[in-house]
This record gives sequence, C-alpha cells and structure tokens, in this order.
Amino acid sequence: MDKERKLIIAGNWKMNKTVAEALDLVQGLKRELGAIKEVDLVICPPFTALSEVSKASLDSNIRLGAQNMSEHGGGAYTGEVSALMLKEFSVKYVILGHSERRQYQKESDALVARKAAAAHAMELKPIICVGETLQEREGGLMEKVLETQIRGSLAGLSKEQAVESIVAYEPVWAIDTGKTASTEQAQSAHAFIRSILSGMFDEPAAKRIRIQYGGSVKAANARELMSQADVDGALVGGASLEERSFADIVKNSI
Ligand code: 13P
Repeated sequence: MDKERKLIIAGNWKMNKTVAEALDLVQGLKRELGAIKEVDLVICPPFTALSEVSKASLDSNIRLGAQNMSEHGGGAYTGEVSALMLKEFSVKYVILGHSERRQYQKESDALVARKAAAAHAMELKPIICVGETLQEREGGLMEKVLETQIRGSLAGLSKEQAVESIVAYEPVWAIDTGKTASTEQAQSAHAFIRSILSGMFDEPAAKRIRIQYGGSVKAANARELMSQADVDGALVGGASLEERSFADIVKNSI
C-alpha cells in the first residue's frame, strides 16, 4: 500500500502478560514479522515485562513502547516510572492519555501535555490518545471534544516535537467492544484532527504527523482502515495479545 506517511502499528498489551507469556509472544512476533520493513512495528508491554522483552527484541525490527510514564523526572512519586527509567530498556515510544487512564486515573489534557513534553525532553516519542465517547458522538459533540483534547494534550509542543509525536484516534465506544468505526467515520475524524494540527502548528508539520486509529482493529478490517488517506497506522489492543492476529493485521496493512 502506497502511503504518504510510513505506517506505524503498535500493540497495546494493557494489563496483560506475565514475563514468560510476554517472551513467548515476542518470539512469535519475531518469527512472523521479522522481515517487515514497510511498517514501523511497536509493542507496548506492561512495565514489569519491559526488561526481558527489551533483551528479546533488541536484534529485531520490533520497537518498544511503554503504556504510561510520569510527568516528573524523579523523586518522591510513589508508584511512578520516569522517562529515564524507560530509556534504560531502550523504550522508544510511550502511550499517553489513553482513554482508560483518562477515565480511571482522571488524567486531564493538561497532564497529558506535561507528560508529552517530559517524553520529548528524553527523546521518547509520545503516542497521544484522543477520542470521543458514544454519548458525545451522538450529542453532536465529536469535533468539539477532539479539538479540545488535541489542543490541550499537545499544548506547548514545538513544531519539531509535534512531528515526532504520534496521535492515536481511539473512539471510546470502539475500544474493546468489537465495534469498529467505519472507514468513513475513521477517515473523517482523522482528517478533522489533521486540520486542527495544521492550525496549531502548520500544514507541512500536520502532514508529517502520523495519526493511528484504535478501537477493535482486527485482521478483517485492517486493510480497509489503513487504506484511508489520513489513517497512518493502528493502535491495537485485544488483537495484539496473540501473535497470529497481530501479524495478520500487519500483513493485511501492507
Ligand atoms: P481494542 O483493540 O481491544 O479495542 O483496544 C484498543 C485500544 O484501546 C488500544 O489502545
């Protein structure tokens, strides 16, 4: 598939996989996807598996991401993990502001923006998540919600930092529900997000920022979603937990 931007497909393992299970999956992914060069491949295991998964993927085309990090560089923040600590395991990406963290940990756009700045300061690429709930969509508020989240969560980033960031559009109603946005819904939301990015930075910068789609991505719908002009990859939850389904998503996207 000829795309304007290189596709980036990331697996968000969420709170799944012991170290042994994680290592099994990484070995399987290396077998299945070791020859893939057309797509940037990222896996985001839980913190507890980063060390071992890092060693196991070092010699491969699979890059490592974390699922969250602290806005702080270090100190008295019990339970938190800093960007520097992630760098120790060759982590290159970090998911920020996932809707589950916005919902359960009450993360705000302002906090996500501070975390994004902290990530860039350590040369980690943030995957910044946005997305509307079903109630917001049905209430005609989708564009307003997305604009607020984008402006708030990328606030203060320089143009250079913005182009090194990834935005993930994850409609909350499509996460872990089996309901995928239609290709038209995904494309129009992505185009809208890009227009906001263009206003915040400029058009050339907005054209370089990759926007992933997330929400019940599977092998059966990956090709159609990835073929949309403004869909530059996927952030995959459930289907990234098994080598076969993740590998098929990647292969169907090329
Ligand atoms: P599912 O693919 O399980 O719907 O999860 C999407 C997601 O939240 C990825 O971050």
